[in-house]
Parts: sequence; C-alpha cells; structure tokens
Amino acid sequence: MDVFQAVDSRISCRWFLDRPVDPALVRDLIARAARAASGGNLQPWRVYALTGAPLAALKRQVGEAIAGHDPRHDDAEYPIYPKTMWEPYKTRREEHGVQLYGALGIDRGDAAGRLEQYKRNFEFFNAPVALFVTIDRNLGPGQWADLGGYLHALMFLARGHGLDTCPQESWARMHRIVGPFVNVPPEQMLFCAVALGYGDHMHPANSFRSPRAELGEFCTFLGFE
Ligand SMILES: Cc1cc2nc3c(=O)[nH]c(=O)nc-3n(C[C@H](O)[C@H](O)[C@H](O)COP(=O)(O)O)c2cc1C
Repeated sequence: MDVFQAVDSRISCRWFLDRPVDPALVRDLIARAARAASGGNLQPWRVYALTGAPLAALKRQVGEAIAGHDPRHDDAEYPIYPKTMWEPYKTRREEHGVQLYGALGIDRGDAAGRLEQYKRNFEFFNAPVALFVTIDRNLGPGQWADLGGYLHALMFLARGHGLDTCPQESWARMHRIVGPFVNVPPEQMLFCAVALGYGDHMHPANSFRSPRAELGEFCTFLGFE
C-alpha cells in the first residue's frame, strides 16, 4: 500500500473483527509514528497500550461505571467541543450524526439507540488493542496540535499493515478511571484513545465514507493562476 492509498483508505472504524494483532506490530506502529513532526521536536505524546486481560478489566470497570447513566454528560479534563456550535461546524457535526446513525438504522428520535451506540466507544468497538494518548497538562495549543500529527502518523501507518483505527475523544470523559488504571502521572492529562485492530468492513458502522468540504471552502490559493 502506498502513502496515497493509506490516506484514502483510512476511516474511523467502528467495528472490529475478533482477530488479534501481533504485539510486535503494535510496538512497531507506536514507535514509527513518533517520526511525526513536532514543534521544537518536543515529541509531547505519551502512549499507553493495552490488550488482553488488562483491556478486558478496564472495559469491565468502565462498563459498570456507565451502566444506567449517560456518559456524554461526564466531563473531560479539557473542553472537547465549544459549548455551542456555529456554522459551518454545526451542520457538519449534524450531518456526521445523520450518516453514522443512518448507517446503523438508528432513528433520529431513538435516544436510547443513540446512547447505546455512543457507549460502544467504551468497548473500543470490539478492537483487540486500545491506546491512550496523554499530554503534559502544562503544554499548550502548539503541542496539542503535535498530538494530532502523532495520531495521524499512527493511523496511516496502521493502514500499511492492513489495520484499522478509530480515534476516540469520548474516552477523555473516562479520565477518572483510565488515569489510575494505567498510572497516568498527575502532570499528564488524557487526550483521547485509539481503537486498533482489523476492521469488519461488512459491518454497517463501517459502510459509509464521511464527506469533506470542497477545496475552495478551506484553502485560499495566491499566485497559482
Ligand atoms: C481526535 C479525534 C477524536 C475522535 N473521537 C471519536 C469518538 O470518540 N468516537 C467516534 O466514534 N469517533 C470519533 N472520532 C472520529 C470522527 O468522528 C471522524 O474522524 C470524522 O467523522 C471523519 O470521519 P473519518 O475519520 O471516517 O474520515 C474522532 C476523531 C478525531 C480526530
């Protein structure tokens, strides 16, 4: 797979096959992704990788914690989104919801169905490997952007091995459980998780391709005529 195919074929995978990932591959991905650029070469990412029994235990603990309540109201340590959304972001976010829940046959008015799907985040969508990405809480926007670079290097490299990923900010809401579970030191905070495994491409959750704005909407070209 070349770099163009890796970028084109990456999707946020929301259901994974019951197929393990070679631990050496996981280590290789996490190490290689650190070739990502970062301002001043600060390399501000810190990664926790879980599989097998520790992952099952964490999922069990979180499953018990969210049973009977709506985790969408739990606070992360940082504002995942602004409190209210404006255009064009509002429409894009709504369209994403329509596409995802539509693919799964969950009605707009089906609050319980939507909640159930949201809670699948905390099963890592059946992925056999889970990564948590944390950052020093005293670092700023520049270094947070570097985390995005690290994540994407990892997600594109995963495609090179035929693996799929789903970045998951929803896990930031579980910082009170994840922190002590993996021993995140107090100076670090949880940014997000990444589900990693072999995607089930026959699953309805993976049946759509998310749209993108037209080039002219987000890029201004000067001097190219
Ligand atoms: C930092 C980050 C966090 C995300 N968190 C979640 C999440 O918690 N749950 C989820 O289902 N998707 C999550 N997504 C996936 C986005 O919804 C997805 O990237 C977007 O809709 C575009 O679709 P695509 O990734 O399939 O191209 C996240 C994406 C990013 C970059």
